[in-house]
Amino acid sequence: MTPDQVNLVQQSFAKVAPISEIAAVLFYDRLFETAPQVRSMFPADMTEQRRKLMATLAVVVNGLSNLESILRVASALATRHVAYGAKPEHYPVVGAALLWTLEKGLGDGWTPDVAAAWTAAYGMLSGFMISQVYGRPQAAE
Ligand code: HEM
Repeated sequence: MTPDQVNLVQQSFAKVAPISEIAAVLFYDRLFETAPQVRSMFPADMTEQRRKLMATLAVVVNGLSNLESILRVASALATRHVAYGAKPEHYPVVGAALLWTLEKGLGDGWTPDVAAAWTAAYGMLSGFMISQVYGRPQAAE
């Protein structure tokens, strides 16, 4: 990600922050519509889950300007997700629902540059998380 892209992600996320509860509802509705098979992995009551998701996204988005600060958070998050049953192939589905949500939430603010910046940010985060827990599958030891 370029420094400009980091700025775009942070500025656009700040615009969604005031409607974060609505954004989280939109996100999970979209996720469960596009990937109904993952619904049973989540609790019936999604209230707390929505809050945790938006809080963690805020930490990650703020941390993009100091990547080392979020590696530990992202690594621990990846490890917990193995226990939740998340598989590598789920990450692109979650990413698509996230980008869709941002597009709806930002309206005219969802420009091609903003879209490219979020695609890069999610690709980096999910790529790192996947490599942390599923990386080097062919390692000899
Ligand atoms: C970068 C992508 C993702 C982010 C930022 C993220 C964020 C979170 C957060 C903050 C939580 C709250 C619990 C915790 O902190 O451990 C959570 C829980 C969860 N996530 Fe994710 N997640 C991501 C990807 C995924 C994927 C790909 C799946 C696969 C379907 C998934 C499924 C779940 C499930 C099942 C829970 C636990 C629900 C529960 O039992 O309480 N997540 N996620």
